Amino acid sequence: KEFLCAMECIHTYSLVHDDLPAMDNDDYRRGNLTNHKVYGEGMAILAGDGLLTYAFQLMTENKTATPQQKIDAIKCVATAAGPEGMVGGQAFDMLSEDKHIPLEELKVLHSGKTGALFNASVELGLILGNADTTTRKALMEYANCLGLLFQITDDILDVTGTIEELGKTPGSDIRQHKSTYVSLLGLEEAKNQASLVGKQAHNALNSVSYDTSILSALIDYLLERTN
Ligand code: IPE
Ligand code: MG
Ligand code: MG
Ligand code: MG
Repeated sequence: KEFLCAMECIHTYSLVHDDLPAMDNDDYRRGNLTNHKVYGEGMAILAGDGLLTYAFQLMTENKTATPQQKIDAIKCVATAAGPEGMVGGQAFDMLSEDKHIPLEELKVLHSGKTGALFNASVELGLILGNADTTTRKALMEYANCLGLLFQITDDILDVTGTIEELGKTPGSDIRQHKSTYVSLLGLEEAKNQASLVGKQAHNALNSVSYDTSILSALIDYLLERTN
């Protein structure tokens, strides 16, 4: 559970920093004022720093994984959170403001800023559960699709959602001139892409020999989510 809590800490830190005026400059998150709106920018930066560091402290405190599993798991989280993963994607996101980038590049951007943490969440389970190669391959393909699907629907909801539904201010991407699935492809094609990636995710689950009903329901939830 330390590993799951660590992922949650890193996820929350990424959002606290993402909302800062120097990044997306957003005022609402999860139905409340953003961290920097309440506590000031300095405290929001420190809250993020604290959450990120605490995540690693937590992981070292786990007592059930083997030493090798622990090293593999911590490496997995570090790689996903850092410059090769989420932080790299966030930098790419900022560098792509005011630009029209090709769809292939947007996929790389999304796989960094969002996909990396989704992948790590799944990979952690595979590491700690000693999964076999076939299961690993299939579930990592699933994770790739799920992260992309989450971000495509996030891009869509920024245009179609309301502040009450989302708990954050819609229109943020347009205000910040972000590269998104909607800005690149338009709303209808973005929705098409979401359903295609959803199908790909379901296909990936077909080669898993365990009960995948919850994982499958998660795909459908992401396709239909309104927040
Ligand atoms: C943020 O992406 C991704 C990370 C925080 C790593 P967005 O900027 O699109 O997220 P929202 O729309 O503010 O939630
Ligand atoms: Mg952002
Ligand atoms: Mg944002
Ligand atoms: Mg967004």
